[in-house]
Amino acid sequence: MATSLISLVGDYLFADRRARDQASTEKLAVEAAPLFLQANMNALQVLLTEAGGELGGRLMVLDPFAKVQADSYSEQNGTLIELPEVSAILVDGKMMDYGVHQVGNARGMTLFSFLMPIDQDATWVGYSTAALTVQGEVIGVLLFSSPIQDVMQRLTSLQNSMTLYFVAAAMAAMAIALVISRVITKPIATLTRGIQRMGRGDLSVRVPVRGSGELKRLAVTFNVMSEKLELLDKSRNQFVSNASHELKTPLSTMKILLENIIYQPEMDAELRTEFLTDINREINRLNLIISDLLTLVSMDSKTTRLNRETFRFADVVSDVAHRLSVVADKRRQDIKLQISDSCEMYADMAKLTQVVYNIMDNAIKYTPEGGLIRVRLVRSGRDAILRITDNGPGIPKEDLPHIFDRFYRVDKARSRDTGGTGLGLSIVNQLVLMHGGSVSVQSEEGHGATFTVELPIHQG
Ligand SMILES: Nc1ncnc2c1ncn2[C@@H]1O[C@H](COP(=O)(O)OP(=O)(O)O)[C@@H](O)[C@H]1O
Ligand SMILES: [Mg+2]
Repeated sequence: MATSLISLVGDYLFADRRARDQASTEKLAVEAAPLFLQANMNALQVLLTEAGGELGGRLMVLDPFAKVQADSYSEQNGTLIELPEVSAILVDGKMMDYGVHQVGNARGMTLFSFLMPIDQDATWVGYSTAALTVQGEVIGVLLFSSPIQDVMQRLTSLQNSMTLYFVAAAMAAMAIALVISRVITKPIATLTRGIQRMGRGDLSVRVPVRGSGELKRLAVTFNVMSEKLELLDKSRNQFVSNASHELKTPLSTMKILLENIIYQPEMDAELRTEFLTDINREINRLNLIISDLLTLVSMDSKTTRLNRETFRFADVVSDVAHRLSVVADKRRQDIKLQISDSCEMYADMAKLTQVVYNIMDNAIKYTPEGGLIRVRLVRSGRDAILRITDNGPGIPKEDLPHIFDRFYRVDKARSRDTGGTGLGLSIVNQLVLMHGGSVSVQSEEGHGATFTVELPIHQG
């Protein structure tokens, strides 16, 4: 780039000089031709000397054999001049010519070859020739030679300063590239370290969010992901610790009861039977917890698929109500069914049966004797809406957001007495979500609770 610019400027400088020299030479050739023809050597000498002084160079008139006949320096008379610019006229028949030479080694140089390094110590001379003609006949050559050192020097200094600028520009570009690559690679390196730490199991890593654009989005996404993973990890740990605790409680009870039986061989038969019955109840409870856990875990491992079939949801609701009416009757509770649509749907009947069972079972369990449980099923557009309302104690406001959490129970002792595991509603939630539906609860302490399940009917 720099060199081509220099040669461009060089061309311009030379073209200027060349045009001037050529014009002068040609003009002078017209004046010199008649004097040479008339062999008026004195007048010719005067003309050359004056013009040479004016133009700042040397003027010579050569005969058609390239021998000097007149010289403004009066030195070279009779010398044969072998210059390509002279033979261009005498041999090739051109009317004029121009060339640049390095004096000393006489190395020729064309105007357009500035790619070669310029030798500062060398002397450069421009030769301009014009034919001396009389009525179209070439009778000699006018040769004007002038030092072009000034032009060369300007070129040299131009080349030097251009080289300097070029180097400076290249260095600046490199510096900028370095800074930019730093700006880009640094956040990537930070992110890589973060991912590596996470790979080693540290889920608490977050990377700083800096800059803008894709890198910023990447950092934000990474942080969101690691936060979710950390939360997931925490909830899994919580789940395992809750599950262990729930399993341990009946085991501890059983151990105490068994030790009593073992260390009191003369225990009376009635008490022993009572203890054994208690142990049996704890075993049932363990069974219940484990089967609930298995249900939950099987839903967690995304492999469980829905066994869809076409059935009437209304049938499921009245079936479950019928099954639970035995328990409700014992508690002198009334189950009121209000079914306004059969709600035929394409879904997993067994799973939805469990949904209805769990909610209705809770309503019966947590509503005192003599209570009322109302079950309403309606269809709204493409959804089946099931509402199960009781007039029991309701759920305190602060517990409402947690009611669907695993193992969450408002009153642990009471719930355990009634045989609850605290997993029923979280199973309900999972099953409903699997069906693309939703479940919610409205309740006011002391004024009963309403569970609402909305399920898409999913039919063609
Ligand atoms: N209809 C209801 N009325 C009052 N409290 C309820 C009702 N249904 C659920 N709950 C509360 O929500 C908790 C969680 O319910 P669930 O997940 O089914 O567990 P549990 O095994 O204890 O029944 C229960 O322990 C109970 O405190
Ligand atoms: Mg329950």
